[in-house]
Amino acid sequence: MAKPIILTGDRPTGPLHLGHYVGSLANRVRLQHEYQQYLIIADTQALTDNYDNPDRVRTNILEVALDYLGAGIDPEKNVIFIQSKVPELYELTVHFLNLVTVARLMRNPTVKDEIKQKNMEESLPAGFLMYPVSQAADILAFQTDLVPVGEDQNPMIEQTNEIARRFNFLYKTNCLKEVKPLTGSVGRLIGIDGKLKMSKSAGNAIMLSDSFNEIKAKVQKMYTDPNHLKVSDPGQVEGNVVFAFLDVFDPDKAAVEELKDHYRRGGLGDGVLKQRLTGILEDFIAPIRKRREDYAKDREEVLRLCFKGSEQAREKANQTLTQVREVMKLL
Ligand code: TRP
Repeated sequence: MAKPIILTGDRPTGPLHLGHYVGSLANRVRLQHEYQQYLIIADTQALTDNYDNPDRVRTNILEVALDYLGAGIDPEKNVIFIQSKVPELYELTVHFLNLVTVARLMRNPTVKDEIKQKNMEESLPAGFLMYPVSQAADILAFQTDLVPVGEDQNPMIEQTNEIARRFNFLYKTNCLKEVKPLTGSVGRLIGIDGKLKMSKSAGNAIMLSDSFNEIKAKVQKMYTDPNHLKVSDPGQVEGNVVFAFLDVFDPDKAAVEELKDHYRRGGLGDGVLKQRLTGILEDFIAPIRKRREDYAKDREEVLRLCFKGSEQAREKANQTLTQVREVMKLL
């Protein structure tokens, strides 16, 4: 029996961080043996809001590939590929665009947020507005079963399934398969500022490639309880970023509960907690960083791997595209 299929991926706009790890990468590493997994480095999607900065996208393709490999994605088991190397996806996108209204795209909550964040209200590029359709093509091209993603991607999966249903109904076929999202155990990881979710653009992220000193400096900057001035003061755990991280990354949950009690009572300083967290994050990231550095010694080889993956991805996508063309009566 063929393995069920996973397709997921990332925009190459910067190196990946701990939020990516808990949101999606952990699931990919865990499921890579049971599923045939395709990982898309979505450079074309990244260009929809970075068309004026192609160097950024170009450079980060390899960084994302290295992050995957560093995180423990086995290149023998997974197909890592580059979106722009699989033109079948472009053609599928064009066909799917007929099945989606502009109004529906404007209602996509993730797209809405991004438009606001990036101040694109005045001059919204059509390419950006339609990227969920191109993402649907990425997903549907592979006869995907499961899409491990962060919470913010759920609206994309919903739109993907709408397109699949509409296509199958309209052309009396079942060649497109509906998919399920799989979100990580942690919905969204807070950034070190305690204000926004962790993201590259907010500058509040701890990268999977960060050095020990970078980790240490970032933990030092973490938002805690601003009213916890003296060690003896009682402190607040809620909204305290150090505790939010201990909840996620400290393997000793009982110890964390005790630390919380102690903090609330007073007598436990931020310094002690931050030192503990620094050690825990270093233990977590060090093996990822090490593996990443090993792969980074031969960047040409990693790029070759992505090219080979792109060839495999083309083959798979072509099967779906052939069926799509057929039912759409294209010659
Ligand atoms: N939208 C995703 C991101 O912002 C990247 C992406 C592109 C993707 N195509 C995909 C994710 C298909 C899952 C499935 O990182």
